[in-house]
Amino acid sequence: MPELYDTLALPATLRRRVLAWYRRSGRDLPWRQTRDPYRVLVSEVMLQQTQVSRVLVAYRRFLARFPTLSALSRASLGDVLREWSGLGYNRRARDLHRIARMHPSLPRTVAGLDALPGIGAYTASAVACFAFGETRAFADTNIRRVLGRAVLGRTATNRDAIELDARFGSRRESARWHHALMDIGATICTAKRPHCDVCPVRPICAFDGDERPSPHRQLAFRESDRRVRGMILRNLVESTGAVTLQALRRGINDPRVPALVRVLAREGLVEVSSGTVRLPTR
Ligand code: ADE
Repeated sequence: MPELYDTLALPATLRRRVLAWYRRSGRDLPWRQTRDPYRVLVSEVMLQQTQVSRVLVAYRRFLARFPTLSALSRASLGDVLREWSGLGYNRRARDLHRIARMHPSLPRTVAGLDALPGIGAYTASAVACFAFGETRAFADTNIRRVLGRAVLGRTATNRDAIELDARFGSRRESARWHHALMDIGATICTAKRPHCDVCPVRPICAFDGDERPSPHRQLAFRESDRRVRGMILRNLVESTGAVTLQALRRGINDPRVPALVRVLAREGLVEVSSGTVRLPTR
């Protein structure tokens, strides 16, 4: 993955925009109002394969019936499965029940959580972050899409997304950061028909709204990168001071502008600071 980003203001700007959006527009979900690791674990396991709207109902019912790990351990698997019915993927219920029978309390480390039946790296990190307040890098499908598109211009692989998350994520507000990315991915940066017009990340986003460029288009894109770079520099030459990235992007009307500005900055051809671009002053 290109190492273009750390030298610029991009990580701080991205973080600020994402967290500010969350304060205004984040979803108020019940499992975000608790740090009880059992409740957080139940929510994450339910959310693995089920939509938030359905989990909302099931989560409340399940916890009313089995309010603690100990209550779950005392229930029969049959009762747990009955309570789970409607959510599907019943192995998840069996695994939760097994966990409750094996552990009077949940492990507090990622390694310990990761070793639980049915719990993988993502869920272990999510629980450590949301329940224990650990700073962790992790990514679900929404996070892969939002971070990938914003920085790389396309959905990231799991591995790349975790690396981006480690580089860009908030260390102080790890839980809110991840909640925010999940919400942006679920409500704005959707897989199909994303709502870029209302996206808080738009001014610094490398995504052009189209996830799958045809091979023809990709080639044409690469060939004309040079032309767009030329236009960016010409724009700056013709303006007296700094220009906002937004204005550059609008003026040039090409989705590659933010990404190419980053390349130019790395090469020392332009300077970027808090959303503005200028020719080097030194
Ligand atoms: N909040 C915490 N974890 C979540 C998830 N996996 N999906 C949606 N919202 C969440």
